[in-house]
Amino acid sequence: MDVKNRVAIIGAGLIGRSWAIVFAGGAFDVALYDVGLDLAEKARTLVTQGLSDLAEQGLIDDPQTAAARVRVAANLADALDAVDLVQESLPESIETKRSIFSELDRLAAPEAILASSTSTIVASLFTQSLKGRHRCLVAHPVNPPHLIPLVELVGAPWTAPEIVAKAKAIYQAVGQAPIIVKREIEGFILNRLQAVLLSEAFRLVEDGYVAPQDLDKTLKDGLGLRWSFMGPFETIELNAPRGIPDYCRRYGASLSALSAANPAIYEGENLGRILAQWEKALTPDQVATRMRWRDRRLAALRVHHRSQPAD
Ligand SMILES: NC(=O)c1ccc[n+]([C@@H]2O[C@H](COP(=O)([O-])OP(=O)(O)OC[C@H]3O[C@@H](n4cnc5c(N)ncnc54)[C@H](O)[C@@H]3O)[C@@H](O)[C@H]2O)c1
Repeated sequence: MDVKNRVAIIGAGLIGRSWAIVFAGGAFDVALYDVGLDLAEKARTLVTQGLSDLAEQGLIDDPQTAAARVRVAANLADALDAVDLVQESLPESIETKRSIFSELDRLAAPEAILASSTSTIVASLFTQSLKGRHRCLVAHPVNPPHLIPLVELVGAPWTAPEIVAKAKAIYQAVGQAPIIVKREIEGFILNRLQAVLLSEAFRLVEDGYVAPQDLDKTLKDGLGLRWSFMGPFETIELNAPRGIPDYCRRYGASLSALSAANPAIYEGENLGRILAQWEKALTPDQVATRMRWRDRRLAALRVHHRSQPAD
């Protein structure tokens, strides 16, 4: 991959400065730009502090060298000088995104990728009329990105697949865990999942089935333990001796009754399409081996939790 290991971060607020920690810790030179130069300077101090905190936890080796890679840019054009990728992290408004992307497209070298941290606005709403719209996409982080690696990459219909692939490689190179959202959808993936969970949590508390503290415990001491190292598909694969089809056969009907989903999603052609994308049909022996792997990971987590001071 042809990269210069240089990024520009536009907006040095909560997310921008965490991105600066990610890229500087990942051996990229970082130009930090904010409308308030004093804000960018202040952010640089916080980035230096963030990098030494990571080193203290053993997550990076050389915080001084990493911090020295971050500079405050005097203006937008200066920030964009010879960068591989621009991480726009300005306030969440469609007018702001439209106006900054038009500036970025005008000023950045044609090969630079233009990525937005936006949590809610799809790229087609602020890049449509740009000459370089093929190089624009959303790269939605989870706060704080220097500690939570997921990045949702969401192109507009006109984003070039090579741009998405190159962005993915860059985020991976600095230790993030990018996923590709195949087409635009409101809320992307993470927030859609979160919204379903939260609405059911609110409903269960509101209807008097459980106290909010006990609902939180259900995630913290229950579902969340597995979810910190495996997703829902892998979870159900290991909750029946013959994997996902077995699980769906046993529990599909009762699950669909609980969530008001169409029972057909857990069977027949629909299940077949999911399994075709999952690609690995585990034998019962392989399921048993993975169950032991899961249990080792859970045990390691329990050890970690026990090592922490009580809240
Ligand atoms: N905060 C979160 O939890 C979170 C999580 C994921 C994604 N995001 C997204 O990240 C983006 C930034 O959010 P944030 O929480 O860091 O906001 P923030 O308000 O903390 O930071 C925005 C920064 O942009 C600067 N700014 C405003 N206009 C500017 C301009 N024209 N040029 C240069 N700098 C300018 C501001 O001075 C400020 O420092 C948003 O799109 C948000 O949706 C936020």
